[in-house]
Amino acid sequence: MKLVNGFDLMEFAKKHHHVLPAFNTTNLEMTIAIAKGLMDAKLPGYIQISSNNLKLSNPRIIALMALDAVKNSETPIGLHLDHGKSFEDVKACVDAGFTSIMIDASHLPFEENIEECRRAAEYCHFYGIPVEAELGALQGKEEDVVNEAECRTDPDMVADFVERTGCDTLAVSVGNVHGLCLDPRIDIPLLAKINEVSAVPLVLHGGSGIPKEVIWEAKKHGLIKINYGSDLRKEYIRTFGESYEADHNEHDVIHLSIEAVENVSRKARELVTMINEN
Ligand code: G3H
Ligand code: ZN
Repeated sequence: MKLVNGFDLMEFAKKHHHVLPAFNTTNLEMTIAIAKGLMDAKLPGYIQISSNNLKLSNPRIIALMALDAVKNSETPIGLHLDHGKSFEDVKACVDAGFTSIMIDASHLPFEENIEECRRAAEYCHFYGIPVEAELGALQGKEEDVVNEAECRTDPDMVADFVERTGCDTLAVSVGNVHGLCLDPRIDIPLLAKINEVSAVPLVLHGGSGIPKEVIWEAKKHGLIKINYGSDLRKEYIRTFGESYEADHNEHDVIHLSIEAVENVSRKARELVTMINEN
């Protein structure tokens, strides 16, 4: 199968009542592992890469790796830009064949956030690619970006933001935290309020550590996509770390990389199955 267009992927999810996981990749092994996890589970989702990570794997390389990784897939898989930092990154990813895009201007004042998102949406929509925008800000650590302050999404701003940006999905801050937070407190009543006024489906970042019952509840209030980064990265690093702990002379990178692919794909399979269990 080819990488699936983001609009088609969302339609498929709605039709089959799925929540779509978006798994952050970093490199070749993570990309293969994510695709394998989704294919083993026979459930749809995204491979995604953040703007920060593009300095390691540029958009064209990541698109080629993702295309190859999904070539035998019978389940729809998309390739998404996560936390798109600039219009240049958005453009580079669309041009490289990404199938959906996030523009993250949530750190900017409201009007500037709208302006950035609108510009990205106009470009992406011309090529038939959906856009995720973010209103509010999450606490925690997303790769090398640390944010101490939390700013929950204000439901009163949602309708105006969605309409004027032209975004196709909305990432919200409702107590979700980036990083390995073991006890995130998701404010479901706030999510429900946002959903009532949002013309588009909702996205939760900071998926690692959110209990399945909370995700199932969120699904009743417009959740279509949930992002997982740390849970998979931990599996990848654990593989090498445990081996090094056992033998400081360990140097079998090939064998360990294959093991890392197995461990990450098992985790991805577990997560996509868990969120779609109910
Ligand atoms: O954009 C990516 C994420 O929101 C990942 O969050 O590392 O807490 O799972 P996480
Ligand atoms: Zn995120």
